[in-house]
Amino acid sequence: MKGLKRSCYCGDVRREHVGEKITLMGWVNRRRDHGGVIFIDLRDRFGLVQVVFSPEVSEEMFEIADELRKEFVIAIKGEVIARPEGMVNEDLATGAIEIYAEELHILDRAQTPPIQVEDDINSSEEMRLKYRYLDLRRKPMQDNIILRHKVKQAVRNYLDNKDFLDIETPMLTKSTPEGARDFLVPSRVNKGQFFALPQSPQLFKQLLMVSGLERYYQIVRCFRDEDLRADRQPEFTQIDIEMSFMSQEEIMDLIEGMIQEVFKIAGFEAPTEFPHMSYHEAMDRFGSDRPDIRFGLELIDVSDAVKDAEFKVFSGTIAKGGQVKGINVKGGVDFSRKDIDELTDFAGIYGAKGLAWMKIKEDGVQSPIAKFLAENELNSMLDAMGAETGDLLLFVADTPKVVAASLGNLRLKIGKDLGLIDQDEFNFVWITDFPLLEWDEEAKRYVALHHPFTMPKEEDIDLLDKDNAGKVLSQAYDLVLNGIEIGGGSIRINNSKLQSKIFNLLNMDEEEIEEKFGFLLEAFQYGAPPHGGIAFGLDRLVMLLGGLETIRDVIPFPKTQRATCLLTEAPSMVAEAQLEELGIEVEEQIEID
Ligand code: AMO
Ligand code: AMP
Repeated sequence: MKGLKRSCYCGDVRREHVGEKITLMGWVNRRRDHGGVIFIDLRDRFGLVQVVFSPEVSEEMFEIADELRKEFVIAIKGEVIARPEGMVNEDLATGAIEIYAEELHILDRAQTPPIQVEDDINSSEEMRLKYRYLDLRRKPMQDNIILRHKVKQAVRNYLDNKDFLDIETPMLTKSTPEGARDFLVPSRVNKGQFFALPQSPQLFKQLLMVSGLERYYQIVRCFRDEDLRADRQPEFTQIDIEMSFMSQEEIMDLIEGMIQEVFKIAGFEAPTEFPHMSYHEAMDRFGSDRPDIRFGLELIDVSDAVKDAEFKVFSGTIAKGGQVKGINVKGGVDFSRKDIDELTDFAGIYGAKGLAWMKIKEDGVQSPIAKFLAENELNSMLDAMGAETGDLLLFVADTPKVVAASLGNLRLKIGKDLGLIDQDEFNFVWITDFPLLEWDEEAKRYVALHHPFTMPKEEDIDLLDKDNAGKVLSQAYDLVLNGIEIGGGSIRINNSKLQSKIFNLLNMDEEEIEEKFGFLLEAFQYGAPPHGGIAFGLDRLVMLLGGLETIRDVIPFPKTQRATCLLTEAPSMVAEAQLEELGIEVEEQIEID
């Protein structure tokens, strides 16, 4: 670089360096002209420093300095000078000094950037993703990437110290069911056959336990073709862990230690509370298996109070095996008709056919349904809800599933809208005692709530027949942070008979089992240790630690909600010859705009 050697990072220059000659390299962050002198804020990954160019030092250098524009890449050599009294910038780590330039070299020129390289920008996310390399120059984005690195480092240190081995597993593999669609990769050598990209390394990490490696981890990319949301990407990163000879409690303890380490290294206070809650309790109180327990507004069952009510929406629903539950919005009496109509529409998204409401006013209860309720029914409802003057009560009558989904989401929305959630709090909860299987009414078959390799609770194994299987609980556990599932795992089945039985209950016949999982069942016949593990969503964990709204902000090159990359324009069409080699014919290629 023009014979210059970088001697220091921009962000590291301090008062102690005054009098030294240093060489810096970086980007022009800002430029100002002041009475014949040019000031540049020079930026590298480590921060900003002010550089001064004066024609008195060199006319030639000053002329080059005059050409400098935002985002030019330059090298400078100069002397560190203390800023005069009153000119010190307290907001900048390097604010006590400036560099008096003696040499300047332009290493690369830049066109005017299409998005601002500033902490706060108003560019659309589309522009930020299209010009991601510029977006990543911004400090908040670099901070996210650094935080991500620190979290990974903390995980590695912790697990390395506990005898875990970092082991890689294949990317070109066979489908591993985790509940999403696979991304398929056609094989050229074996025409007409496909690899699947891993939805998770689940089967390989279990095989590594059969191999006697005992403690495995990997910070690994996983691929799932599913509907995208703020906390879901088609490729994302798991902290994937598996170990042998450990009980559920031992695994959970070890993981809590890891989370504490991550928090410490990322610069946060280590959490001390990891309460446990059963799936049943979480669904009952919060309508969700990933409850945000930072605030109340819990779901309260009032079915008992209204089971005989004249109001058929309530009593009829209960008679059909449904339920009526409510939430109490403290101080919500001032919600307008329009507000309540909006909440009703919102509950409708989750299947609620209506939203009954009651306002508790000074002079009594105001409600469109009060006239259909006997006095004792109304009073029992108010009692159950802990109603006081000023409250707004909202009720949904439906199947437990719809009640949970609609009121659970309504609770979150109202909690957010009313500012009931402390944004600075980190609130963990383990969810345990999940049902092993769930009856899928549409498909008329059981589906695994976690994945099909999860061990049932020992005391429930005898219930594993078609009629009772829905009651079986599993040895599975999820770790939820602020209402987001950051990790999930289980003790695994390590016995081929039991594993086959579960596959059967999931409606797989022997042929399908053999074709998909024959290798696993065979492996279990050569001495498989009891084992279990967990996988964390690294992206989600970093997002929460960074106080961010979407995992896109902690992934250097994420996909859009439509699963495209705006920077490289992937996915894209491929040459006819390439398809031919793979033996693939495409019916119709649709250009995505
Ligand atoms: P699971 O499917 O629960 O378990 O995934 C583990 C964790 O990965 C994160 N995650 C995602 N993050 C971003 N985008 C996605 N599309 C996405 N999908 C999942 C979540 C989730 O908690 N093999 C099992 C783990 C095990 O049993 O050990 C598994 O993959 O934070
Ligand atoms: P309707 O008799 O259908 O006009 O409903 C009277 C009130 O009950 C309205 O406030 C509806 O929003 C509410 N409602 C209707 N169906 C349900 C339901 N399934 N759960 C809760 N409230 C309902």
